[in-house]
Amino acid sequence: MVEQSRVALELRDVAKSFGAVAALRSGTLVVERGSIHALVGENGAGKSTLVKIVAGVHRRDSGTFRLHGEDVDFASTAESKGSGVAVIYQEPTLFPDLSVTENIFMGRQPRSRFGRIDRGAMHREALELFARLGVEIDPRRPALGLSIADQQIIEIAKAISLDASVLIMDEPTAALSGVEVERLFAVARSLRDEGRALVFISHRFEEVFALCDTVTVMRDGAYVSTDPIAEITVDDIVSRMVGREVADLFPKTPATIGEPVLEVEGLERAGVFHDVSFTVRAGEIVGLAGLVGAGRSEIARAVFGVDGYDAGSVRLAGRPVKPRNPRAAIRSGMAFVPEDRRKQGLVTDGSVARNVAGVIRGGLARAGLLTSAAENRAAGPWAAKLEVKTSALDMHAATMSGGNQQKVVIAKWLATDPTLLIIDEPTRGIDVGTKAEVHRLLSELAGEGLAILMISSELPEVLGMADRVLVVCEGRITADIDRADATPENVMRAATNATSHTAEEVPA
Ligand SMILES: Nc1ncnc2c1ncn2[C@@H]1O[C@H](COP(=O)(O)OP(=O)(O)OP(=O)(O)O)[C@@H](O)[C@H]1O
Ligand SMILES: [Mg+2]
Repeated sequence: MVEQSRVALELRDVAKSFGAVAALRSGTLVVERGSIHALVGENGAGKSTLVKIVAGVHRRDSGTFRLHGEDVDFASTAESKGSGVAVIYQEPTLFPDLSVTENIFMGRQPRSRFGRIDRGAMHREALELFARLGVEIDPRRPALGLSIADQQIIEIAKAISLDASVLIMDEPTAALSGVEVERLFAVARSLRDEGRALVFISHRFEEVFALCDTVTVMRDGAYVSTDPIAEITVDDIVSRMVGREVADLFPKTPATIGEPVLEVEGLERAGVFHDVSFTVRAGEIVGLAGLVGAGRSEIARAVFGVDGYDAGSVRLAGRPVKPRNPRAAIRSGMAFVPEDRRKQGLVTDGSVARNVAGVIRGGLARAGLLTSAAENRAAGPWAAKLEVKTSALDMHAATMSGGNQQKVVIAKWLATDPTLLIIDEPTRGIDVGTKAEVHRLLSELAGEGLAILMISSELPEVLGMADRVLVVCEGRITADIDRADATPENVMRAATNATSHTAEEVPA
């Protein structure tokens, strides 16, 4: 038993229903000061619901909720914040038109003696926070157009600036690169060493094992177990989470590779990507690997007509295409599952959602999901394959769990029956069981002749699924590696451009 005074956050047997949906049946989470506690479970297990109760977003129906030994019941997020709880949500919640600084100090701007907002002080403090996080972001720029990684960093800066005693991170790393994850972990560890209590939600077990001291598993809205990380294995966690056997990850089956479907030639966008040429054939899965920010998503967006390009050409099934917008791209047979599936168009300029809205009757709902009844019917079978756990497809997107929202977006794009599928980070935010389903589905689709361009920051996913790996580094393709020859080493080397010059230098 943990000594009472050491417990910062204590939830026992907490329940929460939304109408007929029991989102949380019996949630239990006991987090000590000076520790990092992992909370894991499948998509829809109730993790975010539990977090939202702590954050004051939802009120529990029953159960115990204590903070530093005191019974609490937050009626608002302000109350929760006021009690020293900071939550970094699964999806960043920045205001696009406000500056970075304004976002950090939202609602609690320091004021000068005359009651005016002290902008100088705010910017200085923001810069200090960024220095501590080891990032360079201009505090005066608007949040609009920031990468997801930078938005996430700003959310973290905001939480740290609140000097919270309890910091909850709900999948904070989903959009971060390796370096950024390491930086976040360093900050998390230093906050732990200061005696704060941290909760870390992630579907990436490597991260859970690298960062956390303790792990609590949830399944179907209920508590399953809590163990010190040193006394548990990945297999234990998975079987407790899933309660069934998990299919093999990366069930890549050899497909017959046919004619070129996508041919990209000398694509160029000043300052973003340069001389990009590649081909994706029918039945082929081409993996686009590289570090976050290397330009992979930008290339995909240009091919799909979200962004323009300065030079080069794109051919689809032998015919030149230059989609001026996603609508034209879809008509020509492309589908594009974007990286930022939940909030597209809301914070960044990722106007896929908005552009696609005109294409498919019914348009996209605010969260970026297609909505018309016909769309839903078409997407139904795909949603079933992806095990979307929801009562109805037209369920309001905002009330679905994060992972289920991701799956619905994938399902709806597949329902457009494309000849080329561009999929950016296919399994981000998706739990371990469904991940295998997504991979199986991609493999099956390729088997049926679909050409797939898959962007992924997860090396095992790229190596496991791709027939060919293209590595992008600083806007250029630095390697084109066949499945048989692809190794973590040669992909990483090309991704960081640390080419072995000695070996490759041609003698004069
Ligand atoms: N406001 C709401 N109204 C109706 N149902 C909801 C609401 N919020 C959550 N749910 C449902 O409660 C269940 C648990 O959702 P929750 O978001 O807590 O899952 P999660 O464990 O965070 O999953 P993920 O890993 O996908 O983020 C889901 O079935 C979800 O659809
Ligand atoms: Mg969640």
